[in-house]
Amino acid sequence: MAQLEGFVKPGSIEEAIVSQIDFTRIPRHIAIIMDGNGRWAGRRMLPRLAGHRAGVQSVRETVEACARLEVEYLTLYAFSVDNWKRPRTEIDGLMRLLLEFMSRELNTLLQNNIRFRTIGRIEQLEPAVQRELMNAADATAACTGLNFYIALNYGGRTEIVDAVRRLLSDPEHAGKDLSALDEDSFARYLYTAGIPDPDLLIRTSGEMRVSNFLLWQIAYTEIYVTETLWPDFRARHLFESIVHFQGRERRYGGLSTRDTAEPAVKR
Ligand code: FPP
Repeated sequence: MAQLEGFVKPGSIEEAIVSQIDFTRIPRHIAIIMDGNGRWAGRRMLPRLAGHRAGVQSVRETVEACARLEVEYLTLYAFSVDNWKRPRTEIDGLMRLLLEFMSRELNTLLQNNIRFRTIGRIEQLEPAVQRELMNAADATAACTGLNFYIALNYGGRTEIVDAVRRLLSDPEHAGKDLSALDEDSFARYLYTAGIPDPDLLIRTSGEMRVSNFLLWQIAYTEIYVTETLWPDFRARHLFESIVHFQGRERRYGGLSTRDTAEPAVKR
C-alpha cells in the first residue's frame, strides 16, 4: 500500500486530493513532458537556466511521490533530439544540472530502492555525462522499487528509426522475410523494450502537443495537460492527474462497457 505518511500532511489540500485516489488502480507507468521552465523564469525576469534549476526540485518531488504511490515506471522527458537547437549556454547548463542531480541524488535513489535508467541516444552526450548516467544505472541495477527513466537526446521518430536499424542488423531477421513481424516483436527493438506502455502522459504548461515523445508507446495512453509550469509542479499536481486518470474510461478502440451488448470477439 502507498507510503504517504509524513509526505502528505493531515488536513492539507494534498490529503484531500489523495483521499480521492483509488490505490488499487494506480497507473503502472507515468510519463511526463516537463514544460514551462523558460516561461517560469521569464515571468520572474530570470535567465532560462533559473527555470531549469527550479525544475529540478519538481523532479525530486515527483520521483518521491511516484515511489511512495508505488507507481512502477516513471519516464521524464528532459532533453529532446531537437533541443540541440537551443543556445550552447542553455544546453551546457542543462547538462550541468543533470550531472549535479545524478551525483547529489544517487544515495537517495538507492535508499528508496529506485532503479535509474535512461532512454535516448545517450552515446552522443558528453563522455562525463555518459559516465555519470552509467554509474547511476549500474549502482541502482539491483533496486526493485520504482523504475525511473530519464529521456535524454530522445526523439520518438529517432527511436523508431533506431529500432528498424537494430532489427535489420539482428541475425534473427537480417535478410529474412519480415511478413511474420508483428507489433510485439517490433517493440522489442525500441529503447523501451520490456517496459509497459505509459498509462498516463502528463504535460505541464498547457501546451497541447506530444512533441515527439514516446510516439509508438502512447498509442492508447491517457493524456493529462495541466496549466501548471514545470517548476511549480508538486506532488499535489501529480495526485490530481491520477484522480483525473481514474475518472477516464479506457476503451482501447473497443466500446464502453455500457454499450457492449455481446461479449467481445477475440481476434
Ligand atoms: C522544458 O521547458 C524543459 C526542458 C527542456 C528541460 C527539463 C529539465 C529539467 C527540469 C532540469 C534537469 C533535469 C533533470 C532530470 C535533473 P522549456 O525550456 O521548453 O520551457 P518554455 O517552453 O517555457 O520555454
